[in-house]
Parts: sequence; C-alpha cells; structure tokens
Amino acid sequence: MAELVIRKMEVTDIQQVMEVERSSFKSPWPEDIFYQEVVNNDHAHYFVMEVDKKIVGYAGLWIVIDDAQITNIALMPAYRGHKLGEKLFQYIALQAMRIGVKRLSLEVRKSNVIAQKMYRKFGLVPGGVRKNYYSDDQEDAIVMWVNLK
Ligand SMILES: CC(C)(COP(=O)(O)OP(=O)(O)OC[C@H]1O[C@@H](n2cnc3c(N)ncnc32)[C@H](O)[C@@H]1OP(=O)(O)O)[C@@H](O)C(=O)NCCC(=O)NCCS
Repeated sequence: MAELVIRKMEVTDIQQVMEVERSSFKSPWPEDIFYQEVVNNDHAHYFVMEVDKKIVGYAGLWIVIDDAQITNIALMPAYRGHKLGEKLFQYIALQAMRIGVKRLSLEVRKSNVIAQKMYRKFGLVPGGVRKNYYSDDQEDAIVMWVNLK
C-alpha cells in the first residue's frame, strides 16, 4: 500500500514543488515566490503531499488574525481524481481551524469548475467576482468562502 504523508514544505522541496506547479497551471508561479513564502512570509503556511516519498501535491494558505486565505492547491495530473486533493484540502483547513481562524476564503478561476466543485464539498460558497483578476488572460476570479466558527 502506498505511503501517504502531508508535511510542512521546506526550502529543499521547492524543486519538486515546481514540477507540480508547472504541470498544473498555465502561468506557474516562479521559484522565488515559493522561496519568499517558505522563508520570509510569517503569515504563510505551506504543505506538501508525498506518495511513497515523492512530492505529488502542495497547498498553501496565509493566516492573518481571524482569516485564512488559501493561496493555492495542486496535484500532479497523474494523481488527480483519487481523493488526494480532498485530503490535502481537508488537512490545511484543519490546520487553519486549529489556529482558530474564523473564515476561510480563496480565489478560483471562473472556468475551474473542478476546483469549485471540490470547494463546495467543504461548504465554501461563492461570495463575489473579481473581474479580470488574472493578469495572464484577464479571466474573472470567483471568491469563495466559508465561516469556520
Ligand atoms: C483541484 C484539484 C486539487 C483537485 O484534486 P483531485 O485529487 O483531483 O480531486 P479529488 O479526487 O480529491 O476530488 C474532490 C472533488 O473534486 C471534484 N472533482 C475532482 N475531479 C473532478 C472531475 N474530473 N470532474 C468534476 N469534478 C471533479 C469533485 O467534487 C470531487 O469530489 P467527488 O469525487 O465526491 O465528486 C486538482 O484537480 C488539481 O490539482 N487541479 C489543477 C490545479 C488547480 O486547478 N488548483 C486549484 C486552484 S484554485
């Protein structure tokens, strides 16, 4: 049986995380953003998911006082559709709840119905639209959120 681990992201993970990132987004974040997030941003909490010691996904959130914002979540294409995204989401939502945040929110591309469907399973609902939010193609972002308390 495969060994599944979710743990904090370390600087030494960034090369592997970049593979997840490049295979998941048409405008991937550059490596230095991950570096900033992991090393310099006290509000940022990043986690990786490993299957048999190989990083297959990652997720991050910013926690500022009562609010948690999920910055990103992604799995390598070959590992999608097996409830791993759901496990990872549940894990980071639990981290936020343990810290005591009251609200969880995120932005998601209007066209990304798969991710929206997963977020709805966790009670997130659309709260508004940020028009032309994504700088690469001006796609709108849907803001989704849930009260945790
Ligand atoms: C979004 C993502 C993390 C989901 O991870 P996943 O492991 O594939 O999803 P899971 O197998 O855990 O499924 C969780 C739920 O997502 C939805 N979902 C997953 N795959 C789906 C598909 N092909 N079609 C429709 N809904 C789907 C379903 O609601 C599913 O629950 P259900 O099976 O009970 O219906 C993954 O698809 C991914 O990495 N996508 C690319 C990056 C991305 O878009 N990230 C989100 C940025 S906001």
